[in-house]
Amino acid sequence: MVTTMDEHLTVGRVADLAGISVRTLHHYDEIGLARPSARTSAGYRAYSPTDVERLREVLTYRRLGFGLREIADLVDDPTTDTVAHLRNLRSLLHEQRDRTAAMVEAIDRELEARAMGIRTTPEDQLKPLGARLYDDIGHAYPVTRRTEPRIAAQVWAALGDARTVLNVGAGTGSYEPPDRDVTAVEPSAVMRAQRPPDAAPCVAATAENLPFADQSFDAAMAFSTVHHWRDPIAGLRELRRVARRVVVFTHDDSDAGWHRRFWLSRDYLPEVADLVTGRPSVDELAAAVDARIEPVLIPWDCADGFFEAHWRRPEAYLDEHVRRAVSVWTRVGPEAERRAVTQLRDDLTTGRWSERNRELIHLHAAELGLRLLVA
Ligand SMILES: C[S@@+](CC[C@H](N)C(=O)[O-])C[C@H]1O[C@@H](n2cnc3c(N)ncnc32)[C@H](O)[C@@H]1O
Repeated sequence: MVTTMDEHLTVGRVADLAGISVRTLHHYDEIGLARPSARTSAGYRAYSPTDVERLREVLTYRRLGFGLREIADLVDDPTTDTVAHLRNLRSLLHEQRDRTAAMVEAIDRELEARAMGIRTTPEDQLKPLGARLYDDIGHAYPVTRRTEPRIAAQVWAALGDARTVLNVGAGTGSYEPPDRDVTAVEPSAVMRAQRPPDAAPCVAATAENLPFADQSFDAAMAFSTVHHWRDPIAGLRELRRVARRVVVFTHDDSDAGWHRRFWLSRDYLPEVADLVTGRPSVDELAAAVDARIEPVLIPWDCADGFFEAHWRRPEAYLDEHVRRAVSVWTRVGPEAERRAVTQLRDDLTTGRWSERNRELIHLHAAELGLRLLVA
């Protein structure tokens, strides 16, 4: 593109327009993040239209809370052009707007309730912050969360002959198939930062607003993440929009499927029932993308430490590391956690747990409501 000096902006003018200091612009120049490529005849730094485009990306990512190093990786990525950045920024800004609106709404509700002398529950106070959960707990994740090969094989078989795969809510990438062309989507900066150096490229976005054109992937997958989405049905429709095949690993949280069936939630942590109240059922999720539902058995020695993984190894739940890598324990709150752990420890010591769960000891795999939705 040919540009004339008329189209260049001085550093002072750029600072004015963007509402930042000249010092900040000089700093970005020094660290190579956003460099003015020209000088005016008087020797001042001058930004070309292309420099401004890059600066706009840098400043918007910054305003969204990204760190400078992370921004450098994003804007220097040769596979992401301006349009891809715009789509990505648009989706992140939408997400931020929605989160802000949800928080304003929650504050209004609490003000109204307080005016009437009603105190809101701790759950009501925390829910609007939920979108940030993995920025708080994500550091503990990789300690016990890794690929379980038998479950991965089932997921990868369901992907069929898909060559390009989008992994939404990808976390550290535990279930990304090594033999396909994978693109990951993960909203939490903490989770993104923990992806191995050779992991698939990862876009900061959410399931509800995927920054991709219609049908851009052969398949889209989502593993153990749908229950965290603000709007699971909208997210699944997005997966359907961008891919011709959809594979989702989730759980059936009905009485029959999950919380009355698994001894941990049935006998020690009944609070998990509150966490799923108001969420779409597994049948509603499947219907949203016209999926068939396959059960997923959990091997007794499951390598991935998700909530149900230690069903035959109850002592594992006494380990703080095991609990911190599973969001359920944070979401039920410290009081319920303390009570459940104390009670479980007592029951393991007295033999009550073994008495109650005799039938599990010789099982090699358990059906605890985990499901694969395949569309
Ligand atoms: C339990 S982790 C699962 C990570 C990964 N799929 C795995 O199996 O290891 C759930 C992930 O969902 C992500 N998440 C939360 N809300 C999301 C949303 N609206 N869209 C996409 N991902 C989301 C979290 O940041 C977190 O990394």
